[in-house]
Amino acid sequence: MKRIIAEQSGGLEVLNLVEEEIPEPGPGEVRVKVLVSGVAFGDILWMSGVVPGSPQPPFSPGYDFVGIVDKIGSDVTNISIGQQVAALVKTGGYAEYSCWPRDALTIINNALDPTQVICLTLNYTAAYCMITRVGKLKAGQSVLVHGAGGGMGTAMLDLCRMMEIKTFGTASKGKHSLVEEFGGIPIDYKNEDFVEVISKEDGVDMVVDHIGGNHLASSFSCLRPGGTLVSTSSYAAALGQSGMMETVSGLLRLQFWNLFPNNRSAQLFDVTPFYKKNPGLYSQDLAFLIARLSAGDLKPALDKTFPLEDGKLALEYLRDGKAKGKVVLLTEAYQS
Ligand SMILES: NC(=O)c1ccc[n+]([C@@H]2O[C@H](COP(=O)([O-])OP(=O)(O)OC[C@H]3O[C@@H](n4cnc5c(N)ncnc54)[C@H](OP(=O)(O)O)[C@@H]3O)[C@@H](O)[C@H]2O)c1
Repeated sequence: MKRIIAEQSGGLEVLNLVEEEIPEPGPGEVRVKVLVSGVAFGDILWMSGVVPGSPQPPFSPGYDFVGIVDKIGSDVTNISIGQQVAALVKTGGYAEYSCWPRDALTIINNALDPTQVICLTLNYTAAYCMITRVGKLKAGQSVLVHGAGGGMGTAMLDLCRMMEIKTFGTASKGKHSLVEEFGGIPIDYKNEDFVEVISKEDGVDMVVDHIGGNHLASSFSCLRPGGTLVSTSSYAAALGQSGMMETVSGLLRLQFWNLFPNNRSAQLFDVTPFYKKNPGLYSQDLAFLIARLSAGDLKPALDKTFPLEDGKLALEYLRDGKAKGKVVLLTEAYQS
């Protein structure tokens, strides 16, 4: 089978495509024949090793996948060969076959299109948590979404549209029509000051900031009383656009802002540890999102697919800011 491995920390040059024996499931494990894997900026972030808690190389990138149960180890119940499953795993998705503890897998209807489900497995579950559990937003409130034309950004816009929450989205000009399609008000962050634009609107109730570092202070200043800043990543650091000092001081400022009675809050959010701390919730949320997708209430922006073998090209596409929505890898099993 084919698998992509990051041999050491660094940029995309550390990726290698390898051929290996198909792994055998151990006790309590299930082997999955992967159909599609999500390509996420988080893969680039983990490979860069710039944030604490990054996986130790060698590892396979790949936050999430959809596949078919192919073999079952001993002591496994409530799952059968041939069932379609989805998982959010943080690393390991870029492989034709992989083995996982039964609890890591959510069974989904075999009739569902895996390229649609993979849009939900990471970005929509994370966006749903931030909107409903972190910001606790209601219809009529407002959000500033940075990187609104990307995979995560379009997921935020789509869910907010469904929940009647107003959205502003920073994006480069070429992605403005996509932001508008999802009901967002685009802000051309390369030529406009987003703080000025948002201050004219009397602020927003939540800001989702993936850039990190000094950018967090500008985002925090956009909040109206009662508002929440959510820091989701260190995008600029992963791309070498900001240094370690700036990244760390941005993270420290999140704590600092919460110490003062300014009626605004700031916090980090990371979807994989969140679901790890709340067993069973991921399957429940995914089932809810799939139901809304099937009802036509959600319309994920699937931008582009690449064969698994071209994982490096897919990540290059993402790293270079070309993605308009979600990027996905397809294995031979999906294509046959
Ligand atoms: N914490 C969590 O649970 C969680 C979950 C999922 C994703 N994330 C994070 O969310 C981010 C997006 O991930 P993704 O997979 O959706 O990547 P993506 O599709 O590449 O989206 C990121 C977008 O950010 C835009 N961007 C770059 N610089 C910007 C700036 N200064 N201001 C505003 N936008 C800018 C880029 O588009 P343009 O420059 O062309 O506009 C790019 O398309 C990543 O940092 C990832 O780590 C976090």
